Amino acid sequence: MKVVFLGPPGAGKGTVGERLEKDMGFKRLSTGDMLRNHVKMATELGLKAKAYMDKGELVPDDVILDMVAEEMKPKEKLILDGFPRTLAQAQALDHLLKNTGQSLDLVVLIDVPDQVLIHRLTARRVCRSCGAVYNLITMPPKKPGVCDLCGGELYQRDDDTEDTVKHRIEVYKRSTQPLVDHYKQKGLLRVIDGNADPETVFNRVKELITS
Ligand code: AP5
Repeated sequence: MKVVFLGPPGAGKGTVGERLEKDMGFKRLSTGDMLRNHVKMATELGLKAKAYMDKGELVPDDVILDMVAEEMKPKEKLILDGFPRTLAQAQALDHLLKNTGQSLDLVVLIDVPDQVLIHRLTARRVCRSCGAVYNLITMPPKKPGVCDLCGGELYQRDDDTEDTVKHRIEVYKRSTQPLVDHYKQKGLLRVIDGNADPETVFNRVKELITS
């Protein structure tokens, strides 16, 4: 089964996706995580991407498509988190899947009001070592600044400042929201209300995937 997660920054795509990986054996392909990994390793791609990411702009389609193509080997259960984000990426995804004998089964839009997104993202903290995601308000670590899982240092993403979050939401509305109609027309789109506790949101997504 191949599932795309659509939704604005902070909708909870990563949180639900990680749980689906752990509980249901999905492989999660997050272009945001892949890009941050390139930035951390200071690869040529990472250096190019960082300037866009820090400003809350989308990284150019050609960079994203080269990066994703390398990872698109046939998989039984795949979650695409944060990809596609433009119509050009959606069309390229169709080709990539077709070329490897695969197709998309479901697109889940996680819907959350803007004000909630801003609150969530400015309170997000991420482990520098293992990448675990926390929230100072809704999912705080047991010990401030320290990862419960590996003891690593928690940090705030450069693009999680209030101004950059607001810009990312605008970019989402401009560049990614058109995909809602695109997938609606293909009959693949399902919308869930993501403004609930993480367990409830996970169960809503799980129900769509298993029904
Ligand atoms: P990316 O990392 O993909 O960021 P995003 O889409 O903006 O999504 P986020 O990771 O911010 O949010 P999320 O929905 O995963 O929420 P999360 O679960 O973490 O992309 C970053 C940048 O990379 C982009 O701006 C762009 O520059 C570039 N990029 C990436 N992909 C690209 C592409 N395809 N094309 C071009 N450029 C690309 O949750 C957020 C917080 O809320 C956490 O603290 C979490 O604990 C908390 N939380 C989650 N769910 C709940 C809940 N139900 N209730 C309460 N709190 C919750």
